[in-house]
Amino acid sequence: MTDADLPLSPEAWEARAREVLPSDIYDYYAGGAGDEVTLRANRDAWGELFLRPRVLVDVGEVDTSVRLLGELLPHPVVLAPTAFQRLAHDGGELATARAAGATGSLLVASALSTVTIEAIGAAATGPLWLQLYVFRDRELSADLVRCGREAGCRAVCLTVNVPVQGNRERDANNSFHLPDGLEMANFAGHVQAHMPEPGGSSGLDRFIGEQFDPSLTWDVVGWLLETAGVPVVLKGILSREDARLAVEHGAAAVVVSNHGGRQLDGAWPTVRALREVVEGVEGRIPVLVDGGIRRGADVLRAVALGATAVQIGRPYLWGLAVAGQRGVERVVELLVSDLRRALALTGSTSLREVDARVLAG
Ligand code: GLV
Repeated sequence: MTDADLPLSPEAWEARAREVLPSDIYDYYAGGAGDEVTLRANRDAWGELFLRPRVLVDVGEVDTSVRLLGELLPHPVVLAPTAFQRLAHDGGELATARAAGATGSLLVASALSTVTIEAIGAAATGPLWLQLYVFRDRELSADLVRCGREAGCRAVCLTVNVPVQGNRERDANNSFHLPDGLEMANFAGHVQAHMPEPGGSSGLDRFIGEQFDPSLTWDVVGWLLETAGVPVVLKGILSREDARLAVEHGAAAVVVSNHGGRQLDGAWPTVRALREVVEGVEGRIPVLVDGGIRRGADVLRAVALGATAVQIGRPYLWGLAVAGQRGVERVVELLVSDLRRALALTGSTSLREVDARVLAG
């Protein structure tokens, strides 16, 4: 397959992925919680924010680079943690890690990966963070953090919006589970890492109910800072109050996220929450955002509202499903080149100078 055979628009990537994936796996990635109100709103809300271009600016050169936790990144598109990537393609997390390196993208490796963090670290050639859930057996999480650090992870990204799983009816209807031969590689030998077919419910929902600690409070951040020895990022912040608490508890950055509409259905779209989280952190730590970012103009909008970087999830999973490593690379390349175009067309020469003046109203 050459690049000319690959899709262009985000919708076309998804449509192609849908053709190649079994329907339960497509549903697992595509689906949200409940009525999927938040899932749809994430996407739509970016489009409601109009841009205010300036003209006759020399945009012969545009600079998309950003600084994040001391790292100079060539562009602000981060690959979000997404679980079980070998469901999408045999290459799975290793293909994604290689694509991240090839495109200069920061990769946040999911704790729920189908290859180990050690293998991901060995395949990665660019900056890597480890995403984490805290298990009832906290030592399991601590062990993973230690492995992550040894594998070269430069930060730990704690997901804070899954005390219980969102109501994902598609997965319950499909009895979602990991097929024979796939397991949660980081936990093999410790917990029921294979996640067998539960029958009439979601295996992941059951796994989360049994393993994730629903009693976590803000104290966990101090524990993690001590355990990790690398910066701790909190993913899943949607309010000013929690943004302030994150700063007070020593978080190095926050990610404005409603888990791609997969947790609390009815949670507000991330573009709207972004404004108040940015206010809450008062410039003390960087803010990232995910949820519905599909076009370069969305990245520009996020940065204009005060985000340092954005995360994408489903778009690169579709790329992975369609064409493995090259698919992930192509999706990122298209988004970054669309961002360059959006910068030029708004008369902005550098992403680091973009601010609210580029937004209409
Ligand atoms: C895992 O984090 C999921 O959203 O399925």
